[in-house]
Amino acid sequence: MGDLVRVFLSLVLSSLLVLPALADIGDDKYKPTVGQAGKDVIWVPTPDEMVTAMLNAAGVTSKDLVYDLGAGDGKIAIAAARQFGAKAVGIEYDKDMAELAKRNADRAGVSGRVDMIQGDIFEEDFSKATVVTMYLLPDLNLRLKPILKKMPPGTRIVSHSFDMQSWEPDLRIETGAASGFMWIVPAPAAGQWTIDIPGFEQPAVLTLTQIHQMLTGSLKLDGKTVPIEEARMRGADMRFQVQWGGGEVLMFEGRILGERLSGRMQPAVKPTFIEGRRTARRPS
Ligand SMILES: C[S@@+](CC[C@H](N)C(=O)[O-])C[C@H]1O[C@@H](n2cnc3c(N)ncnc32)[C@H](O)[C@@H]1O
Repeated sequence: MGDLVRVFLSLVLSSLLVLPALADIGDDKYKPTVGQAGKDVIWVPTPDEMVTAMLNAAGVTSKDLVYDLGAGDGKIAIAAARQFGAKAVGIEYDKDMAELAKRNADRAGVSGRVDMIQGDIFEEDFSKATVVTMYLLPDLNLRLKPILKKMPPGTRIVSHSFDMQSWEPDLRIETGAASGFMWIVPAPAAGQWTIDIPGFEQPAVLTLTQIHQMLTGSLKLDGKTVPIEEARMRGADMRFQVQWGGGEVLMFEGRILGERLSGRMQPAVKPTFIEGRRTARRPS
């Protein structure tokens, strides 16, 4: 059995297990069928419990603009508006489905906060989203990955069922019947940073290599170079620690804004505020 056929069947079967009220989907103008063809992927609705879990994992609030890529009957966009007070946009290629999603938003009383665009997710602009939700296929996630990774640091991406291979999720989502993943777009941090730390004559030099949200590298401070540990980005927030000898662990937390960073270093006794600037784009 081919991979896509297997994925297709697992989508349909898992949805049949958790969607007892399929007959209720649709209205007198249009009744879609679970498993019906779509442009790049069939239509299978995400179970309600998973919709809520995905939006919770992304920490959606009324300040967010949520885009659901391949919106189906609009249920994720509608839930984002109704349960979380967000603004939301669904992009759906199938015309009848997009029309149904609009009517569903009307019936749910959220048409003022929910837009449905009939279009192709690979052509429509969703760059203003603060949260992107998807229930697509592994290869579609991978095609979207370069676009998603260029979104502003801090943008949350949530996918029902399918991951993004080497880009490890920041959070795994499990409900009784389904699973999903959440990523936070990391700020670009790679390069060399010069950091002023009160109490030290010479600025520290932080050298970072980055793969997605994971960081490796070293810190040169007071003439001594030590590897950084537990180092990662969460959006624009960076953290790492170093073993400073004598059992002391120095913890660093900061925020990267373009070419500058600010934050604090936490030795055992008192936190010290630090400021830094990127002095080379690539580690040297
Ligand atoms: C698996 S369903 C998910 C529906 C909804 N997001 C949910 O989770 O309940 C995928 C949807 O994507 C739509 N779709 C497929 N290819 C698309 C494309 N290139 N652009 C926009 N929508 C697409 C299908 O018509 C289908 O409604």
